[in-house]
Amino acid sequence: MKILVIGSGGREHALVWKISQSSLVKKIYCAPGNGGIAKQAECVDIKSEDIDGLKKFALRERIDLTVVGPEVALVKGIVDEFEKAGLKIFGPNKKASQLEGSKVFSKELMRKYQIPTAEFKVFEDSKEAISYIKSKEMPLVVKADGLAAGKGVIVCKTQGETVDAVKKIMEDKIFGDAGKKVIIEECLEGEEASILAFTDGEHIKLLPTSQDHKRIYDDDKGPNTGGMGAYSPAPIVTENLLPIIEKNIIKRTIDGLKKEGIVYKGIIYAGLMIKEGEIKMLEFNVRFGDPETQAILPRMGSDIIQPIMATIDGNLDDVDCQWKKESCVCVVLASGGYPGNYQKGKTINGLDKLGDLKDSVVFHAGTKKMEDGYIIVTDGGRVLGVSALGMDIKEAIDNVYDAVNYISFENMCYRKDIGKKALL
Ligand code: AMP
Ligand code: GLY
Repeated sequence: MKILVIGSGGREHALVWKISQSSLVKKIYCAPGNGGIAKQAECVDIKSEDIDGLKKFALRERIDLTVVGPEVALVKGIVDEFEKAGLKIFGPNKKASQLEGSKVFSKELMRKYQIPTAEFKVFEDSKEAISYIKSKEMPLVVKADGLAAGKGVIVCKTQGETVDAVKKIMEDKIFGDAGKKVIIEECLEGEEASILAFTDGEHIKLLPTSQDHKRIYDDDKGPNTGGMGAYSPAPIVTENLLPIIEKNIIKRTIDGLKKEGIVYKGIIYAGLMIKEGEIKMLEFNVRFGDPETQAILPRMGSDIIQPIMATIDGNLDDVDCQWKKESCVCVVLASGGYPGNYQKGKTINGLDKLGDLKDSVVFHAGTKKMEDGYIIVTDGGRVLGVSALGMDIKEAIDNVYDAVNYISFENMCYRKDIGKKALL
């Protein structure tokens, strides 16, 4: 098979790496890819949101299967466009992608189909939103309706902060049209975990649980980032909770969408808040998580193309996915200054030495290969994700930080406490 993977981050490198191990695959392209992906795939210079350009490329190269990494292309309807052209593509269509593309759509669906989530109210007018805030107890959470590159959720401790958040989103339009509507909701407490599942619209296959680390500094301090690391499994999601999550969250959502005339096919990602065994839905994503994927796929013991094709063809029940017992921890190495301003073009040292370490793998995110074909330089905020397996989380933590020690670049930053929460 000829495969096209869309995207350029650590998640896409993990996908390319796993897909390259499939005996069904002959050639992989990645658009646009990065310096590390270039080892396993031919990178093509087409942006992940250029649906027309990607479609033309897939038709010209007779691509057998396209796998989409980022949400923007899905929400813009890449799946509908590819299917119209007779191309096989993995991911939900435009209507189904509203689950991530519109928080109002997603919360209203949860309310209608009794999927446990925080109490909320939707506003289209900032004055009404502000007077509502004044009648509520703190803390509150303000969410922009549309996509905002992971920045559209503001957790507020005081009324002043909440009013400011509404003003910034609705009046100053910091997220553009994504902030035409806002949700104001109850602030939930507990521990977060993610669960991803393959679904063909009928059947569900859960992937192992995971947890990411959104803040830049140790002990969850500092501003939010795209994710500084992840581990899998997440022990907060105990075995007895899995059937409950599958039935009360994933299945209800898939069935609810079907009642609305929408068939959901692809990966469904549920961001959960868990407190004393009680589960509430925070957010849906319509794709693989980043960096969760970098901690999940190294644990996959079976082929990835089979469940992907079965998801598209509607026979997911016939496929058996195997997962290793080992745990996996992924540590993100970032450029100094991230998530604010940072410099690019720093030479990355030590990548060649990691081949000696068993059980670890480096996924590239913001990297570029120099013209000589050997030197790899930094080219983004999150530069690399180093993942390692271990018999348990503790061993995986030891292994991953051993691997991290081999790598260096000027102003390299990373969290020293990835996975620590799982040991408490
Ligand atoms: P994102 O997944 O980028 O939309 O970010 C959502 C994040 O905001 C979650 O991972 C939580 O940390 C936080 N969050 C969202 N909704 C709530 C809520 N109702 N209560 C507390 N934290 C929330
Ligand atoms: N790790 C969160 C996300 O992929 O959105």
